[in-house]
Amino acid sequence: MGKKGKPLGIDIGGSGIKGAPVDLEAGDLAEARLKILTPKPATPDAVAEVVDQIVDHFADRTGGSPIGVTVPAVVIRGTVLSAANIDPSWRGTDAEALIKEHTGRDVTVLNDADAAGIAELHYGAAKGVQGLVILTTLGTGIGTALIHDGRLVPNSELGHLEIDGYDAEDRAASSVKEREGLSWSEYVERLQVYYDTIEKLFSPDLIVVGGGISKDSEKFLPQLTLRCPIVPALLRNQAGIIGAAHLAVERSKGKSKG
Ligand code: BGC
Repeated sequence: MGKKGKPLGIDIGGSGIKGAPVDLEAGDLAEARLKILTPKPATPDAVAEVVDQIVDHFADRTGGSPIGVTVPAVVIRGTVLSAANIDPSWRGTDAEALIKEHTGRDVTVLNDADAAGIAELHYGAAKGVQGLVILTTLGTGIGTALIHDGRLVPNSELGHLEIDGYDAEDRAASSVKEREGLSWSEYVERLQVYYDTIEKLFSPDLIVVGGGISKDSEKFLPQLTLRCPIVPALLRNQAGIIGAAHLAVERSKGKSKG
């Protein structure tokens, strides 16, 4: 299908690996996404095999188009450098080379929160905002994307700020609310401490909150007292897939310009 095919976005998460062709004009999925359970253990080879199944599934609509893949880790030029919420064997893996081996396709690999940030920047809550936007995703861990004047500063990892002697995501990720059975007001206290620290250190112009829990944002965002506005992400579950496809296309344009 070559040039007319849609780019493909794939989001590797702790419980599921989700992918769909993306309509970059609309900033939406071009068709229903395919979700396959994350293999256990989620080693690089096992995960790359699932990514290959997703690539195959959509091959007739996306053949020849760029592919973007997110991982919940620091990624520098395709190599995964951290493994807070994924199998430790990912650390040091050249994920772009590995996925190419399995799929035969060129892929762009990036951090999951950075992908969500790119999607919110182009189609969502960060669109057109000048100055510093910090997107945080509250989920198993806390992911962050730093966007300044419309440009992403990748791999910010502010979910691992040390606050009161704790790794921030161990106190304030939404998985902690579930695990410790925190009420909304107890959880709001944790978030207040976290976002106070973010505000003190970075003075952002806007904070955007994504992750599954953002669908209940009215239960906690209005309760937070901050200087800057804090708003829910607009793209929810789709953000990683859309942002990954967006970056993959940008990158392929850059390559073709030589
Ligand atoms: C990881 C980040 C990731 C975030 C959300 C953190 O534990 O260090 O790289 O973006 O979880 O998945």
